[in-house]
Amino acid sequence: MKIRTVPAAAASRGDLVVVLAADGVDPDAGSKLQSAIAAAKGTGDVKASFRATSLFHQPAKARCRRLGFVGLGKVAALDTERLRRAAAVAQAVAAQVGVESFSLVVGAASLGSLDREAAGRAIAEGLALGAYAYEAPRKDRKRPKAMVCSVAVVGLSKKDERSFQRGAELGAIAAAATVFARDLENRPANLCTPTDLGKAARGLAGGRIRVRVFDDRAMAKWRMGALLGVARGSTEPPRFRELHYRAPRRKGTVCVIGKGLTFDTGGISIKPAAKMDEMRYDMCGAGAVLGLFHALANGALGDHPLQYDVVGLVAATENCVGPDAQKPGDVVTAMDGHTIEVLNTDAEGRLVLADAICYAKKFHAPKQIVDLATLTGAVVTALGHEVAGVMGNDQKLIDALVAAGKAADEPLWQLPLWEVHKEQMKSKFADLANINGGQHGNGSIAGGAFLSYFAGDTPWAHLDIAGTAYGGIAKDYYKHGAAGTAVRTLLHWLRSL
Ligand code: BES
Ligand code: MN
Ligand code: ZN
Repeated sequence: MKIRTVPAAAASRGDLVVVLAADGVDPDAGSKLQSAIAAAKGTGDVKASFRATSLFHQPAKARCRRLGFVGLGKVAALDTERLRRAAAVAQAVAAQVGVESFSLVVGAASLGSLDREAAGRAIAEGLALGAYAYEAPRKDRKRPKAMVCSVAVVGLSKKDERSFQRGAELGAIAAAATVFARDLENRPANLCTPTDLGKAARGLAGGRIRVRVFDDRAMAKWRMGALLGVARGSTEPPRFRELHYRAPRRKGTVCVIGKGLTFDTGGISIKPAAKMDEMRYDMCGAGAVLGLFHALANGALGDHPLQYDVVGLVAATENCVGPDAQKPGDVVTAMDGHTIEVLNTDAEGRLVLADAICYAKKFHAPKQIVDLATLTGAVVTALGHEVAGVMGNDQKLIDALVAAGKAADEPLWQLPLWEVHKEQMKSKFADLANINGGQHGNGSIAGGAFLSYFAGDTPWAHLDIAGTAYGGIAKDYYKHGAAGTAVRTLLHWLRSL
């Protein structure tokens, strides 16, 4: 989907013009479409309830061939999520009609008091995310043509119109990055190996971004015993990659770490067969980090003067059951010297993240660390698929992330992480165990509690995205499979630094 903002007059022509219509507000698409809209309204068939659609074919000599409406519902109930969904519905109408390009127009009154930049952003995101479909490899592959959408807003001051346009540009960049993440995430494990993830990362290098990909020899040199322990079960070699975005004015560094398990069988503590294919999604933390850098590579910060370098770290491996796989009870040593009793080889995410956190601290001394991981099934039990869990050792950082999630409409819910939880992670056979005892419960917090030992005093937050990464309800701009979750949240967070 290619999105551009245009003046209202330019958006009044073509095969299809879709107008976003709020309940109780006269739809305004500029003077050129006034009579066509009046005629449509005259039929009594224009629908304005949220997500409702209506389509009117136009007389032969009219400016546009079809005039469509997508309902926004009541202005008082309008928010960015509804706007994003309505834009996605407009995209679906265009796809249904079969046009290659269309226009989307909205009048200022229909947007109510929504922030203009946020509105532009939500519309662009809805369009581009709604257009996304994973292209499965097939014998007869039909490549869908990329659609073009011209977006116009009517009745705003010049200043507000510029805000809307800037929002639309940033939204298009954020959505393209989310689509990039979704595409990596949806690929099955044999088509998205740790090495493939490395290649995807390399493609993001250039400009302010430097990318380095490290192999197991480098990991052995750094003594990443926890990560390498997981990798032992697979013949696919692990990869560790660092993406470094240099800020124009640098006051320090923030690190964003992604769990990149391109497949998680559970290892010797093997998972049940049912739905095991879903463990392709165990690299969605990595997907979020790579998506973030896709956005940074494409100017997602606009003219925002970021004061911190952003270092993205992706720890990628498979968790398999090869003859050399680590066994329950094995003790490994992480990069910072902590010894870990691997009581359950399926709690592998925290092992690879532990070494990634050590690496971040050793080589970047970051001001803040955020990790993202499909870490626990327990977070799905606790919070479901529409909210991700967040925990950490720094309330300010957690608050900033929760606010960013709210702005992105990717909600986060904080879970406690207290000394009693940290206590649960101690082992009789090593410093730490990688699981707590079943009697404790709090499975997601246990994952965070384990990681907190490696974060130490560095402000750190952990996002458990096992629920939100895939499997949420369909919502127009998300249909099924990978959600590309947290890319937009991370962008909002960076802008808040
Ligand atoms: N990748 C899984 C977590 C997961 C589960 C992600 C369901 C998405 C959907 C993780 O590596 C895992 O297996 N965690 C274990 C931890 C347990 C052994 C303490 C789990 O949740 O069962
Ligand atoms: Mn696992
Ligand atoms: Zn896993």
